[in-house]
Amino acid sequence: MKQDSGEIVLEVRDVGFRYPDGSVGLDRCSLALRRGSRTVVLGPNGAGKTTLFLHCNGLLRPGGGQVLFEGLPLDYGRRGLRELRSRVGLVFQNPDSQLFSATVREDVSFGPVNLGLERQAVRERVEEALESVGMTECADKPVHNLSYGQKKRVCIAGVLAMRPRVMILDEPTAGLDLRMQHELMEVLQRLHAEGMTILMATHDLDLAYAWADEACLIDNGRVVGKFSADEFPHKAGMLERHGLAVPQVARLYPLLVARGVFPPGAPAPRSCAELARMLEPDELAGALCR
Ligand SMILES: Nc1ncnc2c1ncn2[C@@H]1O[C@H](COP(=O)(O)OP(=O)(O)O)[C@@H](O)[C@H]1O
Ligand SMILES: [Mg+2]
Repeated sequence: MKQDSGEIVLEVRDVGFRYPDGSVGLDRCSLALRRGSRTVVLGPNGAGKTTLFLHCNGLLRPGGGQVLFEGLPLDYGRRGLRELRSRVGLVFQNPDSQLFSATVREDVSFGPVNLGLERQAVRERVEEALESVGMTECADKPVHNLSYGQKKRVCIAGVLAMRPRVMILDEPTAGLDLRMQHELMEVLQRLHAEGMTILMATHDLDLAYAWADEACLIDNGRVVGKFSADEFPHKAGMLERHGLAVPQVARLYPLLVARGVFPPGAPAPRSCAELARMLEPDELAGALCR
């Protein structure tokens, strides 16, 4: 398979979608994901983020336009969808919509079993997936006894067990405490380093700026802005028009440059923790602002 970094792995092309009650879910929405990229989808509540994601793995079918995976329009037949869902994994916002088996192990096994893999292969994938989200010790626990954060991790493991090429996460940090958020982001960091293409919706602009390569802003079902994450500091007007704010560090840093604390033209920090390290390069400052 071709691995050049400009290759588009998943593309939503001019997709329109209305829900049965007539609500507009998407309106000529377009987005292309480069292989290996980290893309963040931003937008106010009701913008269409979830609807977009449901189109990416074929759970919803466009009313107009097309979705393409590795250059080919999606095949909505049973086999085609099964194949697609093993390549494009979706982690729902609410883990209770995703988990349905009695135990963690059963739940994570579901996908690989459905792919028709041998028992040993299923077992290996499940162990590997649980390991990578740090849930090995909970393998035999009943799903309903897990904390919210643990359920989220099991959902991610369920997707990883399919060994997808693209992973889509719908507001993955919502409802997680700070430590859980950091742990989740570490998992995503590692997956990205291993070559995974990741698409994530979030309301957390600070997280988006710290994490993403590309950003896509949607509202009323339409893409209203696409930019490289480096551009966040210059997108204040656009973000504010759609009910979002510029990441805090992107607001603060230009003020520090204007006051001569940092020279102009140097690479801007992408998180408050990075800024703290630039101001006070000892471990304590970094830890305080993490
Ligand atoms: N099942 C549904 N039935 C009718 N309308 C829906 C349904 N799900 C979402 N919508 C509508 O579609 C639009 C986009 O929603 P959604 O994709 O959930 O937005 P987001 O994830 O950005 O908050 C909203 O106007 C929402 O009310
Ligand atoms: Mg949503």
